[in-house]
Amino acid sequence: MTHGRSGANVNLAAGLEGRRVPFESVPVIDLGPFLDGGDKPGVARAIGRACREVGFFYVRNHGVPRARVETAFAEARRFFAQPLEAKTAIHVSKSYPRQRGYVPLFEENTDPEVTADLKECFDLGRELPPDDPAVRAGTPFHGPNVWPEGLPGFRETIAAYYDAVLDLSLTLAGAVALSLDLPEDHFADKLDRAVTTLRLIQYPPQQGRIEPATLGCGAHTDYGFLTVLAQDQAGGLQLKNCAGDWIAAPPIPGTFVVNIAEMVERWTNGLYPATLHRVINTSGRARYSLPFFLDTNYDARVECLPNCRSAEHPAKYPPVIGGEYLFQRFDQTFPYRREPTRDA
Ligand code: OGA
Ligand code: NI
Repeated sequence: MTHGRSGANVNLAAGLEGRRVPFESVPVIDLGPFLDGGDKPGVARAIGRACREVGFFYVRNHGVPRARVETAFAEARRFFAQPLEAKTAIHVSKSYPRQRGYVPLFEENTDPEVTADLKECFDLGRELPPDDPAVRAGTPFHGPNVWPEGLPGFRETIAAYYDAVLDLSLTLAGAVALSLDLPEDHFADKLDRAVTTLRLIQYPPQQGRIEPATLGCGAHTDYGFLTVLAQDQAGGLQLKNCAGDWIAAPPIPGTFVVNIAEMVERWTNGLYPATLHRVINTSGRARYSLPFFLDTNYDARVECLPNCRSAEHPAKYPPVIGGEYLFQRFDQTFPYRREPTRDA
């Protein structure tokens, strides 16, 4: 795999590599011809280019009905409007190490050295029964979801949204594989029991001067394979380009924002970077977003793809086990996971 722009299976001698150009906007990709099979290679090429140059892209014609997204946002608003006690009754720490439930303000800090995140979240994932072998073995991130009491219809609506974005994320993983000159199902056996998180987020309004110490979400890269994000109309998502400038990724109705995360950066040896991003809510009202994180199977080995390394570009990252890697990344950003009682 070249680190230049051709996409063909060639290697560049030292000194021939093109420089990475700082992006100034985020491409919008029509997924229709991928979903209906009309032009899978063309869509995969567009995705490959976006992954190399930006690490982010929007998708439209993605097949998820608008009503499904809107009803999920409505449920997110309903969830966060509950009294604090109702939310803390399902505090995420109670599900450790599954990572399900409510995360109060400032309890996950994505850029912990710099920023306390002004956001509250509700996390869910793949619903697995207690007698599932992986659950019985105590595998982190595996098990039943936790649901709020007293919100009839919440579970059904959010679970239906989860199913729809899980499907979309797996389709996108296939497109990413194709874009790398690999078979569409190349990653299938690394994703067929993928750890996933659907997260509902409320960003409270911020007033007055906003300092780096308190942002909606501090600068970070996502940990897993890829993320599919629905954002409301408030705006505030920013991406950092290679020149160090923060570029806005404004809401575009009917689209999702998709980004490459760290495991794909590792698989591709940095060819598809996991791009830094953050959220600053200057809208003056609450902002809601629904990121869906497709990670990998817990035991998936994530190791530089053979066609992404060469004598000139040896593998930069040592192989990792997806679930173990995730576990460590969560430990860095969730203080509750590092409390002394955790080690007991
Ligand atoms: C995240 C994230 C962006 C948003 O949760 O990892 O980057 O718009 N969210 O909420
Ligand atoms: Ni993110």
